[in-house]
Amino acid sequence: MKFFIDTADIDAIKDAYEMGLVDGVTTNPSLIKQSGRDHEETIRDIASFVPGPISVETISSTAQGMLDEADIYQTWGHNIVIKIVMSPEGMQAVKYLSAKGIKTNVTVTFTAAQALIAAKAGATYISPFVGRLDDIGHNGMDLIKQIRTIYDHYSFQTKILVASVRNPIHLLDAAMIGADVATVPPKILQQLFKHPLTDKGIEQFLVDSKAFQKT
Ligand code: G3P
Repeated sequence: MKFFIDTADIDAIKDAYEMGLVDGVTTNPSLIKQSGRDHEETIRDIASFVPGPISVETISSTAQGMLDEADIYQTWGHNIVIKIVMSPEGMQAVKYLSAKGIKTNVTVTFTAAQALIAAKAGATYISPFVGRLDDIGHNGMDLIKQIRTIYDHYSFQTKILVASVRNPIHLLDAAMIGADVATVPPKILQQLFKHPLTDKGIEQFLVDSKAFQKT
């Protein structure tokens, strides 16, 4: 399973990249706002050191507007994926871009029917938001299972990109189900390292090493 990082924070992306944990990056308007930086400058900075796919989200509500934005975004890096919201206009844009060989990521999706529509339009990635489903009392990972089953039935090439990941269990479940990608916020990446027995074991090794260390 590929690990994408779900942030526009350059320092966080660099830290994770140096540990080999960044196969790609996903951004959205909220993450760009949080970064407090210019959109284009931020994406160009990310593209300067991340070779993998970088999702950049369109904000137009019409297919033509999305395509115009896609033209601009593609000049920001060689590895830009055009992120498009789930809507009829959005799927028109995805179909057009897909026919031109331009990669797309269909976002804010919450049902398997939406995943089916995105795959038929030729999306490169589908982003189901598991955390936001959990927030309203649904089981986000059940949706990932459904999409995996449907895509496997028909050999759709669209990749399942598990988004809105809120904890390490989401990541593990995504891997067990066979999702293609999980996009993970930096905070959750840090949590993956943690186990109380790891901390305890490291501490004990440090204490014991003092017995034979030359000062
Ligand atoms: O990339 C968008 C997605 O991951 C959103 O996550 O935490 O805002 O639901 P969240």
